[in-house]
This record gives sequence, structure tokens and C-alpha cells, in this order.
Amino acid sequence: MASTNIHPIFDRLVQQEDREKRLGQNAKVLWLTGLSGSGKSTIAQALERRLFNEGFFPQVLDGDNIRTGINKNLGFSVEDREENIRRISEVAKLYLNSGIIVISSFISPTIKSRAAAKEIIGKENFLEIFVNTPLEICEKRDVKGLYKKARSGEIKNFTGIDSPYEKPVNPILDLKTENQTVEESVDEIIEHIYPLINI
Ligand code: ADX
Repeated sequence: MASTNIHPIFDRLVQQEDREKRLGQNAKVLWLTGLSGSGKSTIAQALERRLFNEGFFPQVLDGDNIRTGINKNLGFSVEDREENIRRISEVAKLYLNSGIIVISSFISPTIKSRAAAKEIIGKENFLEIFVNTPLEICEKRDVKGLYKKARSGEIKNFTGIDSPYEKPVNPILDLKTENQTVEESVDEIIEHIYPLINI
């Protein structure tokens, strides 16, 4: 039987590229990694606002929407952190395939877990950004009071105290936040990623 439709699959499936064209951007996952209190989520939210105001379509994934929802059954053992990152990576990939610029903000403490994230997301779309704030500063800020509890032994397996943080080996950006305002950090990120997200 003759068909008028010679590309049935392509007609039916909306591709990532079609969605990206509609949204006017290249979808990427900006993977922020760093210690607790390094400023990841503050920077992620300011970056999301800036990209949105500039006409992009970003979405932050952080503890507020992931660890309180889909991952609320996970703790901070090595296995749970790996599962946390695995699920986040799968969620990030779904957003990515929808054409969205994902800003993920999790400690993701091990090289292994970040390599697994990169594998799931795809290396061309995984942009690792090290929010490089020294432990002394994170501990001094102690915004949530958790370092104090970790030092006193009230909290166990706290990253940087009695659980390891492995620095990224080859991030696209090593953000030294120590002497920067949040806006300056956002400027630096945008400078690096603009050519990659701009269509
Ligand atoms: S990750 O290691 O699995 O990537 P994630 O970024 O989701 O961690 O969560 C880290 C946040 O959980 C910290 O900023 C802190 O508020 C809280 N937290 C509670 N217990 C711990 C712990 N033992 N180690 C690190 N962060 C903890």
C-alpha cells in the first residue's frame, strides 16, 4: 500500500533538537559540585534567574526539589549518595531531552559518582563546574549549623569532616568563590557557557 508518509517515525517523535529550536537554546546540564555551604544552591538560583531573564529556559535541581521529593528515602551513606546522584542524573537527562538547561546543585562528593552522572547524561552535555570554596570558609559560615554538629559527632559521615570530598579533575570551570560576589560567580559561569547554550 502506498504511503504518503515516508518518514513515519520522524514525523511522530518530537526530537530534542526540535524542542531546543522551539526554546531557542542548546540544552546542557550544568553540574555544580562542591562542599556543603560552598554556595552551590545560591549560585544555581541566581544563575537560573539570570538565564531566564536573558530569554533562556533553565531549571534548578537541588536538595529542595529532589531530596525532599523523589529522593526523600535516601540518607548520606556512600551507597545512598551514589543512588542520589544516579536518580538526579536520570531526572536531569529527562529535562535535557526536553530541551531545558539544567542547573544541578549537589555535593556529588566522589569522582566515581560524577563519572556515572556524565555517563548517564552524555559527555557532550555534561558541564562540570567546581564551586571551589575552601572547607575553612564553608565551616566558618556554617549557614545550617551542620559543621558544628559534625565536629561534635552529632552528625556522622559529614562531607569534608568525616566523609571525603574528591575535587573534580578536569572541570570546565574552577570557580574560586572566596573573593567573589554571587553575581561575579554567575558572570564567570555565563561567560564560559554562553557559546555552548546559545543557538
Ligand atoms: S550528596 O553527597 O548526596 O551529593 P546532597 O548535595 O544531595 O549530598 O546533600 C547535601 C546537603 O545535605 C548538605 O548541604 C547538608 O545540608 C545536608 N546534609 C545532611 N547530612 C549530611 C552529611 N552527612 N554530609 C553532607 N551533607 C549533609
